Amino acid sequence: MSESVGLDKVIKSHGLVRAVDHVSLSIQNGEFFSILGPSGSGKTTILRLIAGLDRPDLGDIIIQQRIVTLDPPHKRPVNMVFQHYALFPHLSVYENVAFGLHMKGERQANIQKAVSHMLALVRLQGKEKRLPGQLSGGEQQRVALARALVNRPVVLLLDEPLAALDQQLRQEMQGELKRLQREVKATFICVTHQQDEALMLSDRIAVMHGGKLLQVGTPQEIYDRPVSSAVARFIGLSNALSGTIVSCDGGLCRVEPNGLSPVMVSCSPHDSLQGAVTVMVRPERVHVSSNMSANRYDNSLQAMVHHVAFSGNEVVYHVRLLGGAIWMARVPIAEAQACPLTVGQQVYLQWWAQDGLVLPSQSPPC
Ligand SMILES: Nc1ncnc2c1ncn2[C@@H]1O[C@H](COP(=O)(O)OP(=O)(O)OP(=O)(O)O)[C@@H](O)[C@H]1O
Ligand SMILES: [Mg+2]
Repeated sequence: MSESVGLDKVIKSHGLVRAVDHVSLSIQNGEFFSILGPSGSGKTTILRLIAGLDRPDLGDIIIQQRIVTLDPPHKRPVNMVFQHYALFPHLSVYENVAFGLHMKGERQANIQKAVSHMLALVRLQGKEKRLPGQLSGGEQQRVALARALVNRPVVLLLDEPLAALDQQLRQEMQGELKRLQREVKATFICVTHQQDEALMLSDRIAVMHGGKLLQVGTPQEIYDRPVSSAVARFIGLSNALSGTIVSCDGGLCRVEPNGLSPVMVSCSPHDSLQGAVTVMVRPERVHVSSNMSANRYDNSLQAMVHHVAFSGNEVVYHVRLLGGAIWMARVPIAEAQACPLTVGQQVYLQWWAQDGLVLPSQSPPC
């Protein structure tokens, strides 16, 4: 596979804010690549640098093996879909999609063919004459996608493309995006702050924080082996305990959390962890009950139920540990109904050593 887009030691500041801080990335042709990170982490700035709407202070942008750092946007084979679509409100669906081709001076017959093909691809046939104001949010979003794709970009940049849609429409459009990408075979670089969306859609994900790249990997790598507690938190691993490593032997670490009894966590025999660490446990792996389970779990902590939330087919218990930390335990609804727990109740949280992760408290430098 060859490189589609590269960033080489890119730095970009806005005044005193370092929006992108020494970022190097290599995105392959035909990849669905997501940039995931909290608000203000530099995601949009990275897209703008690739599109040529901003210039790096230092470093280079490479597209299709060519350094394009100083090229203006129209000289780059990329198109960008903005969060709020930016459709022309006074132009019809057809005219919105045809606009770029008209500007390029394409022949009328070619434009008609290309626009019809694109509208079929995004399933908007029959709505050619409507104005954007006469479309639903999801339909407007698809016009924006068709308008960008009709130019046959090598790279499509998508800035939170689904953020303005409600939950159901968002899920539908996730499938559409993936299908479109497979059909047009372009490289998609998609910014999101929704971890579930990134995990579901992407071939690879870059996790950003404060302008820095924390980790790049496949969804599975990021989910199973986050390199730091910041990445782990960001992909939904919310249960954390700070502590100190007491011993690490034969793939098993013993950690003393501040003020609580020691916990055991599996680790790779190659991990050379020591000192301050964060232990993290997935909410779906924590067993919560009013009694100690007959199973001889490796770990057991006392806690109190703080909040009970129903979420579709499961119950999410928010529990307070003795040190004050709040943890979550996700329990299938049938199991929760068989032994319901109520706010204020004393409970035991139990889990196996292999269901925990032990990570250095500080993010490693990238
Ligand atoms: N034109 C600008 N002038 C000054 N500061 C800016 C400008 N654009 C972005 N910034 C700052 O740069 C940092 C990164 O901004 P960026 O828009 O890339 O973040 P983001 O990850 O896209 O955030 P969000 O998820 O909220 O869209 C932020 O601290 C932001 O305030
Ligand atoms: Mg943004």
